[in-house]
Amino acid sequence: MREKLRIYGSARLEGEVAVSGGKNAAVAIIPAALLADSPSTIENVPDIDDVRVLLDMLRWLGAHVEFRENTVWIDPRTVDKFNPPYELAGRMRASYYLTPVLLGLFHRAEVPLPGGCDIGARPIDQTVKGMETLGASVETLGGVMVAKSDRMQGDDIFLDMPSVGATVNSMLTAVSAPGMTCIHNAAREPHIVDLANFLSSMGASVKGAGTDIIRIRGGRHLHGTDYTIVPDQIETGTLMIAAAAAGDDVIITGAIPTHMESLSAKLLEMGVHVSSEDDWIRVRSNRVYRAVNVKTQGYPGFPTDLQQPLSALLTVANGTSLVTETIFESRFRFLDELRKMGAKVRVIESSSAMITGVSHLVGARVNATDLRAGAAMIIAGLMAEGVTEIGGISYILRGYEHIDEKLTQLGAHIEHVRKEEAF
Ligand code: EPZ
Repeated sequence: MREKLRIYGSARLEGEVAVSGGKNAAVAIIPAALLADSPSTIENVPDIDDVRVLLDMLRWLGAHVEFRENTVWIDPRTVDKFNPPYELAGRMRASYYLTPVLLGLFHRAEVPLPGGCDIGARPIDQTVKGMETLGASVETLGGVMVAKSDRMQGDDIFLDMPSVGATVNSMLTAVSAPGMTCIHNAAREPHIVDLANFLSSMGASVKGAGTDIIRIRGGRHLHGTDYTIVPDQIETGTLMIAAAAAGDDVIITGAIPTHMESLSAKLLEMGVHVSSEDDWIRVRSNRVYRAVNVKTQGYPGFPTDLQQPLSALLTVANGTSLVTETIFESRFRFLDELRKMGAKVRVIESSSAMITGVSHLVGARVNATDLRAGAAMIIAGLMAEGVTEIGGISYILRGYEHIDEKLTQLGAHIEHVRKEEAF
């Protein structure tokens, strides 16, 4: 079955759309719930494949898990395994967040190396460094990360780069390690702060999340909690860019404007009208854009996950834009797909791309090469003249909750084709 999205171009978007809970927050918080001695309720969880696969892993480990209407109930008291299966763990990036949790529960964890989007080598050496610094021995045997420790102890972890994954894994290790742990050069993303807030609500002592030094006094007793996940920063940004690309006037509700400042500033630079208050962001666009230069950075810089959606918009800006990707070494593969639609793009080395604006894109059959590339192709399809068909949409469904329905609600004409048509 070749599942695809069919997008009718020259869309005009109008109205209000609500953003879902944060994927990258949810996949860090759900494993943390296993560290409690009682059940937790987690609300505003996006209903996406990555979450469903992770919850299946928790069930496999013995937890009692329910997931209905964006709320997850986790009772960790029956967890009795420390080795989730490859069939589940290999299907997403965040499965390795279970390693420090199971190490804390059983002094042993055997977790298959993570899957995730093919946007670079994505090594996990900093995650291993964090766990070893706190007393674990970690080795990789046949594609499985085996972590063992009889005695964990808080210490100073110095990350070589502000890795999101290594920061999450160091936090999840530190809460089970008696004594003080300081994570230096920590990532500052909103989902890191959300994980810290969740751990604190369980009774952990976590200070400094959102800055580059996070202090955790570990070894404390952790109890179940009720928690609500932050809105998804990257979905908010994707919807803002879609509104800029095809909007007349769109309001995104349930968002946190301060999380979006780097993108809002870039869209304003391009000539798009962005305004915000409390928990909504309004984007008005006359679909005429100035070319701009973009350089991805860790938070609060311009997010690498919004580089691909914004690059799609830049293909029709007036002038030439320079896009520099400093986080992942191969996050430009989707540009080949944009070329099929008439974009004029050129990759300079592996980290920079020149995008020369054209008057319009033309609909074509394209593929999503990863999750955010899929978002970029949707944005291109909304703008293009004619029909665009996007294959490989399993990536998109992994990370965006009902994105086709949300855009349809705003006036887009999108069909989710689930079975092969005669011709
Ligand atoms: C997280 O990936 C996100 N995934 C990614 O989102 C996001 O793009 C990325 O952070 C950056 O914000 C989840 O949260 C599940 P990193 P992660 O560790 O943790 C290098 C999406 O679309 N590095 O911050 O893998 C690494 O190779 C996904 O939602 C090491 O060298 O990102 C990369 O070049 C895509 N050694 C850079 O650091 C390490 O041990 C940033 O990686 C770890 C990372």
